Amino acid sequence: MYRSHNCGELTSKNISNEVILSGWVQKIRNKGFIIWIDLRDRFGITQIIFDQKRSSKKIIEKAQKIGREYVIKINGEVIKRESINPKMKTGEIEVLVKDFTVLNSSLLPPFTIQDNSDGGEELRLKYRYLDIRRNPIKNNLILRSKITAEIRSFLSDNDFIEVETPYLIKSTPEGARDFIVPSRMNPGNFYALPQSPQTFKQLLMVGGIDKYFQIVKCFRDEDLRADRQPEFSQIDCEMSFVKRDDVIKQFENLIYNLLYKFKGIKIDKIPILTYEKCIRLYGSDKPDIRFGMKLNYLNELAKNKGFEPFDSNESIIGICVPNGSNFSRKKIDQFTNWVKRPEIAANGLIWIKYNEDGSIKSSIDKYFNYNELIKWIDFCEGKKGDLLLILAGDKSNTNLKMGLLRMEIAERLELRDPEKYSPLWVIDFPLFMWDEEEKCLKSMHHPFTAPIEKHLDLLNTDPTKVIANSYDLVINGNEIGGGSIRINSSDLQKRIFSLLGFSEEEAINQFGFLIDSFKYGAPPHGGIALGLDRLVAIIGGQEIIRDFIAFPKNNSGKDLMIKSPSKISSDQLNELQLRINPLKS
Ligand code: AMO
Repeated sequence: MYRSHNCGELTSKNISNEVILSGWVQKIRNKGFIIWIDLRDRFGITQIIFDQKRSSKKIIEKAQKIGREYVIKINGEVIKRESINPKMKTGEIEVLVKDFTVLNSSLLPPFTIQDNSDGGEELRLKYRYLDIRRNPIKNNLILRSKITAEIRSFLSDNDFIEVETPYLIKSTPEGARDFIVPSRMNPGNFYALPQSPQTFKQLLMVGGIDKYFQIVKCFRDEDLRADRQPEFSQIDCEMSFVKRDDVIKQFENLIYNLLYKFKGIKIDKIPILTYEKCIRLYGSDKPDIRFGMKLNYLNELAKNKGFEPFDSNESIIGICVPNGSNFSRKKIDQFTNWVKRPEIAANGLIWIKYNEDGSIKSSIDKYFNYNELIKWIDFCEGKKGDLLLILAGDKSNTNLKMGLLRMEIAERLELRDPEKYSPLWVIDFPLFMWDEEEKCLKSMHHPFTAPIEKHLDLLNTDPTKVIANSYDLVINGNEIGGGSIRINSSDLQKRIFSLLGFSEEEAINQFGFLIDSFKYGAPPHGGIALGLDRLVAIIGGQEIIRDFIAFPKNNSGKDLMIKSPSKISSDQLNELQLRINPLKS
């Protein structure tokens, strides 16, 4: 028997019990005659004590050889601790060791296995199995498991059935590059790993499954960021005989349920904003609406007054920073430098302080008088004590730049309250966007998204104006999910492919199976996919998803522990009939 109890459960109720515990040695305090050890397992930590007086000399001698992260099994008696630790569940007791066995020794770990480790991220990724022993990572994995279980039970209770779809498939366009797998049995032919199970879930609707879900790995070869991994998990869902609002309602209920269960937060209604409004008010299609600082368009008030930077630019946009009038010049200069960085590339930042005493001080005092500036502040709904920041630039991107500045300021001023959850539905995205580089239309989501019914005719006249019957779920400025009502007519699907620049032959070659399926009674259907890693991270109070994934890749897409990706042998290459270009390898 390895254990009678785990390391997180003994309390004063167990005093005088004989117990057996197994676990890892987290901390050793050695006073010669007495040794205390913090013994850890997944469930917690129990203090154990080796005492020469109360046990035997032999035990103490043996215990001197125990090192950090050794795996040991002990048996002993639960006794009352002299100095109680009220922060720990087991803090009232300790176990007086009568006998113990070293189950396995350990090298000295390359970083401390404690909540605040001294190990850098790369080192911790290399020894991920040790990192997982730490509470922050372990608790994230436990949270992920609980959330996943809750989602499964919610969806099952709502009549969704879980169906697995294949991983070795053909390209599904979700906007990234595919990961490709060569086929040994079909030389020169390749599978693609799914960027999502999009086409399969639609085929399941044609197959009459009606309500499908899957918690599924997706693979995307794209630039990595804090909230992006090359392989990640989706809660992928599809429903038949639904309109947009049916899908929204169903998944709103899931979000209410999760936020209540895991955060104790009750949400009455998730607001809905159109894409156009999000961009206009927040300069982002995934706005963080936990705080205000909306964008205000000052063209009418500020243009054609002889101030060249305003007169020569198409868009003049201001935001009011709450209580910003007391910012030092240095602090404002930091924001100015931030917007001038190449990533934002604004020409400069104009500031107007509306001081507590009602006076105004600005970087454009020479050009505008008090009465003019106070009108701008009123227009932007500024209050005494606020700071108005203004960017001027092109119509096409000044709002996006201001949106980024808004988020940067909110981050620095800690306006993004980590305890607050503000979900939002964004609807009415354009169906297409114009790709300036490739000079063609691209799908804003994916090519299977239906246009709204009243815009069907616009497809023939002005496709860039067509609105999609799609929706994104945003929480605290993070895109958590996206979905749409789908096309279920083969003619319309073919028309969309042709607008996207596919020849009829290419469309049939790549997606003939789906187009054909629509000819056999495809029901009206729609769905959504939520990013599980992002959802769990957000509920866990973070925006970086790496530590909510057991074995993540680093920012270059590498697994530092197993050292992948890696070269393959020439035998494997030959078998697959592949050749590496010697100039590039
Ligand atoms: P979409 O491409 O919007 O939609 O993906 C759905 C959600 O998946 C998450 N996500 C990611 N998470 C981590 N790393 C990534 N690289 C990554 N890429 C996406 C996001 C995103 O909102 N088939 C459609 C869904 C549908 O139409 O039903 C799809 O995949 O949270």
